[in-house]
Amino acid sequence: MSALTDLCNEIAGCRQCDLAKQRNRVVPGEGAEDATIAFIGEAPGWHEDQQGRPFVGPAGQFLDELLASIGMKRQQVYICNVLKCRPPGNRDPLPMEVKTCQQWLDRQLALIRPRMIVTLGRYSMARFFPGETISKIHGKARREGGIIHYAMYHPAAALHQQALRDTIKADMRRIPALLAETQPQPDAKVAPKPRQLSFL
Ligand code: URA
Repeated sequence: MSALTDLCNEIAGCRQCDLAKQRNRVVPGEGAEDATIAFIGEAPGWHEDQQGRPFVGPAGQFLDELLASIGMKRQQVYICNVLKCRPPGNRDPLPMEVKTCQQWLDRQLALIRPRMIVTLGRYSMARFFPGETISKIHGKARREGGIIHYAMYHPAAALHQQALRDTIKADMRRIPALLAETQPQPDAKVAPKPRQLSFL
Protein backbone atom coordinates (compact mmCIF):
# COMPACT_ATOMS: atom_id res chain seq x y z
CA MET A 1 0.00 0.00 0.00
CA SER A 2 1.22 3.52 -0.74
CA ALA A 3 1.95 6.08 1.94
CA LEU A 4 -0.96 8.17 0.64
CA THR A 5 -3.38 5.24 0.89
CA ASP A 6 -2.13 4.60 4.42
CA LEU A 7 -2.70 8.24 5.25
CA CYS A 8 -6.21 8.24 3.77
CA ASN A 9 -7.03 5.17 5.86
CA GLU A 10 -5.76 6.99 8.91
CA ILE A 11 -7.92 10.01 8.02
CA ALA A 12 -10.93 7.71 7.58
CA GLY A 13 -10.58 6.65 11.22
CA CYS A 14 -10.23 10.17 12.62
CA ARG A 15 -12.38 11.03 15.63
CA GLN A 16 -10.54 14.16 16.72
CA CYS A 17 -13.52 16.51 16.57
CA ASP A 18 -17.28 16.37 17.00
CA LEU A 19 -17.89 16.08 13.26
CA ALA A 20 -17.03 12.39 13.69
CA LYS A 21 -20.28 11.92 15.65
CA GLN A 22 -22.58 12.98 12.81
CA ARG A 23 -20.81 12.06 9.60
CA ASN A 24 -21.75 9.04 7.53
CA ARG A 25 -18.44 8.74 5.73
CA VAL A 26 -15.09 10.48 6.01
CA VAL A 27 -13.98 12.04 2.73
CA PRO A 28 -10.17 11.98 2.72
CA GLY A 29 -9.67 12.87 -0.96
CA GLU A 30 -8.89 11.09 -4.20
CA GLY A 31 -6.91 11.29 -7.41
CA ALA A 32 -3.44 10.74 -8.75
CA GLU A 33 -0.81 10.17 -6.08
CA ASP A 34 1.73 12.06 -8.20
CA ALA A 35 -0.73 14.75 -9.31
CA THR A 36 0.70 17.96 -10.71
CA ILE A 37 -2.34 19.89 -9.51
CA ALA A 38 -4.18 19.59 -6.20
CA PHE A 39 -7.67 21.12 -5.98
CA ILE A 40 -8.74 21.91 -2.44
CA GLY A 41 -12.37 22.61 -1.58
CA GLU A 42 -14.11 23.43 1.66
CA ALA A 43 -15.81 20.38 3.18
CA PRO A 44 -17.87 17.40 2.07
CA GLY A 45 -21.54 18.09 1.35
CA TRP A 46 -24.45 15.67 1.51
CA HIS A 47 -23.45 13.64 -1.57
CA GLU A 48 -19.83 13.41 -0.52
CA ASP A 49 -20.81 12.33 3.00
CA GLN A 50 -22.90 9.53 1.48
CA GLN A 51 -20.21 8.30 -0.90
CA GLY A 52 -16.97 9.07 0.93
CA ARG A 53 -15.64 10.82 -2.20
CA PRO A 54 -14.94 14.52 -2.77
CA PHE A 55 -16.93 16.67 -5.19
CA VAL A 56 -19.44 14.09 -6.40
CA GLY A 57 -22.56 16.30 -6.16
CA PRO A 58 -23.62 19.19 -8.42
CA ALA A 59 -20.52 21.26 -7.59
CA GLY A 60 -18.43 18.23 -8.46
CA GLN A 61 -20.14 17.84 -11.81
CA PHE A 62 -19.24 21.42 -12.57
CA LEU A 63 -15.67 20.78 -11.41
CA ASP A 64 -15.51 17.80 -13.81
CA GLU A 65 -16.71 20.12 -16.62
CA LEU A 66 -14.08 22.69 -15.69
CA LEU A 67 -11.38 20.02 -15.75
CA ALA A 68 -12.61 18.78 -19.12
CA SER A 69 -12.30 22.35 -20.43
CA ILE A 70 -8.54 22.09 -19.92
CA GLY A 71 -8.38 18.53 -21.20
CA MET A 72 -8.12 16.87 -17.81
CA LYS A 73 -10.00 14.21 -15.90
CA ARG A 74 -10.36 14.07 -12.14
CA GLN A 75 -8.20 10.94 -12.02
CA GLN A 76 -5.23 13.02 -13.27
CA VAL A 77 -5.38 15.57 -10.45
CA TYR A 78 -5.83 15.31 -6.69
CA ILE A 79 -9.08 16.56 -5.15
CA CYS A 80 -9.67 17.00 -1.44
CA ASN A 81 -11.05 19.42 1.11
CA VAL A 82 -9.98 21.50 4.09
CA LEU A 83 -12.38 19.47 6.26
CA LYS A 84 -12.62 15.73 5.77
CA CYS A 85 -16.07 15.39 7.38
CA ARG A 86 -19.36 17.10 6.57
CA PRO A 87 -20.47 19.89 8.91
CA PRO A 88 -24.10 19.16 9.84
CA GLY A 89 -26.62 20.95 7.67
CA ASN A 90 -23.76 22.12 5.44
CA ARG A 91 -22.95 24.90 7.88
CA ASP A 92 -19.64 26.72 7.54
CA PRO A 93 -16.59 25.00 9.06
CA LEU A 94 -15.74 26.18 12.58
CA PRO A 95 -12.24 27.55 13.26
CA MET A 96 -11.55 24.65 15.66
CA GLU A 97 -12.58 22.10 13.01
CA VAL A 98 -10.30 23.72 10.44
CA LYS A 99 -7.44 23.74 12.91
CA THR A 100 -7.94 20.13 13.97
CA CYS A 101 -8.19 18.91 10.37
CA GLN A 102 -5.23 20.92 9.04
CA GLN A 103 -2.71 18.18 9.86
CA TRP A 104 -4.37 15.86 7.33
CA LEU A 105 -4.21 18.29 4.43
CA ASP A 106 -0.61 19.18 5.29
CA ARG A 107 0.38 15.53 5.28
CA GLN A 108 -1.48 14.84 2.03
CA LEU A 109 0.28 17.70 0.26
CA ALA A 110 3.65 16.65 1.67
CA LEU A 111 3.17 13.23 0.05
CA ILE A 112 1.65 14.34 -3.26
CA ARG A 113 3.94 17.33 -3.66
CA PRO A 114 1.88 19.00 -6.41
CA ARG A 115 3.38 21.72 -8.59
CA MET A 116 0.17 23.71 -8.31
CA ILE A 117 -2.34 24.10 -5.49
CA VAL A 118 -5.72 25.44 -6.57
CA THR A 119 -7.96 26.67 -3.77
CA LEU A 120 -11.70 26.43 -4.34
CA GLY A 121 -13.60 28.94 -2.23
CA ARG A 122 -12.91 30.95 0.89
CA TYR A 123 -11.84 28.29 3.34
CA SER A 124 -9.01 26.80 1.35
CA MET A 125 -8.06 30.29 0.16
CA ALA A 126 -7.67 31.34 3.80
CA ARG A 127 -5.18 28.52 4.31
CA PHE A 128 -2.87 29.54 1.46
CA PHE A 129 -3.65 33.24 1.04
CA PRO A 130 -4.26 34.45 4.60
CA GLY A 131 -5.91 37.85 4.84
CA GLU A 132 -6.89 37.98 1.17
CA THR A 133 -10.36 38.26 -0.33
CA ILE A 134 -11.50 35.99 -3.11
CA SER A 135 -12.92 38.78 -5.28
CA LYS A 136 -9.46 40.40 -5.31
CA ILE A 137 -7.20 37.42 -5.86
CA HIS A 138 -9.16 34.86 -7.86
CA GLY A 139 -7.44 34.00 -11.12
CA LYS A 140 -4.07 35.26 -9.88
CA ALA A 141 -1.15 32.95 -9.21
CA ARG A 142 1.55 33.22 -6.60
CA ARG A 143 4.65 31.08 -6.52
CA GLU A 144 6.63 29.82 -3.58
CA GLY A 145 9.58 27.46 -3.97
CA GLY A 146 8.32 26.37 -7.38
CA ILE A 147 4.77 25.66 -6.16
CA ILE A 148 2.07 27.76 -7.76
CA HIS A 149 -0.79 28.77 -5.49
CA TYR A 150 -3.92 29.78 -7.37
CA ALA A 151 -7.27 30.87 -5.95
CA MET A 152 -10.59 30.22 -7.63
CA TYR A 153 -14.20 30.72 -6.61
CA HIS A 154 -15.93 27.64 -5.25
CA PRO A 155 -17.74 25.77 -8.05
CA ALA A 156 -20.92 25.67 -5.88
CA ALA A 157 -21.00 29.48 -5.74
CA ALA A 158 -20.77 29.59 -9.49
CA LEU A 159 -23.67 27.16 -9.97
CA HIS A 160 -26.34 29.78 -9.40
CA GLN A 161 -24.69 32.92 -10.72
CA GLN A 162 -23.93 33.05 -14.41
CA ALA A 163 -21.37 35.84 -14.02
CA LEU A 164 -19.38 33.81 -11.51
CA ARG A 165 -19.71 30.76 -13.71
CA ASP A 166 -18.02 32.59 -16.56
CA THR A 167 -15.36 33.90 -14.18
CA ILE A 168 -14.53 30.48 -12.79
CA LYS A 169 -14.40 29.02 -16.30
CA ALA A 170 -11.99 31.75 -17.37
CA ASP A 171 -9.87 31.23 -14.25
CA MET A 172 -9.68 27.49 -14.94
CA ARG A 173 -8.59 28.11 -18.52
CA ARG A 174 -5.51 30.00 -17.26
CA ILE A 175 -4.13 26.94 -15.49
CA PRO A 176 -2.37 25.18 -18.40
CA ALA A 177 -0.46 28.33 -19.35
CA LEU A 178 0.56 28.95 -15.74
CA LEU A 179 1.92 25.44 -15.47
CA ALA A 180 3.69 25.73 -18.79
CA GLU A 181 5.33 29.01 -17.75
CA THR A 182 6.90 27.48 -14.68
CA GLN A 183 9.46 24.77 -15.02
CA PRO A 184 9.57 22.09 -12.35
CA GLN A 185 12.59 22.69 -10.12
CA PRO A 186 14.52 20.02 -8.24
CA ASP A 187 13.38 21.35 -4.88
CA ALA A 188 9.91 22.36 -6.05
CA LYS A 189 8.03 19.56 -4.38
CA VAL A 190 8.03 20.55 -0.76
CA ALA A 191 5.18 20.91 1.69
CA PRO A 192 3.67 24.37 1.34
CA LYS A 193 3.97 26.87 4.15
CA PRO A 194 1.47 29.73 4.04
CA ARG A 195 2.99 33.20 4.04
CA GLN A 196 2.51 36.51 2.33
CA LEU A 197 4.12 36.67 -1.10
CA SER A 198 3.62 38.77 -4.18
CA PHE A 199 1.62 37.54 -7.13
CA LEU A 200 3.16 36.28 -10.36
N1 URA B 1 -18.00 21.27 -1.73
C1 URA B 1 -16.73 21.15 -1.27
O1 URA B 1 -16.11 22.12 -0.86
N2 URA B 1 -16.19 19.95 -1.29
C2 URA B 1 -16.82 18.88 -1.72
O2 URA B 1 -16.22 17.79 -1.70
C3 URA B 1 -18.12 19.03 -2.21
C4 URA B 1 -18.71 20.24 -2.21
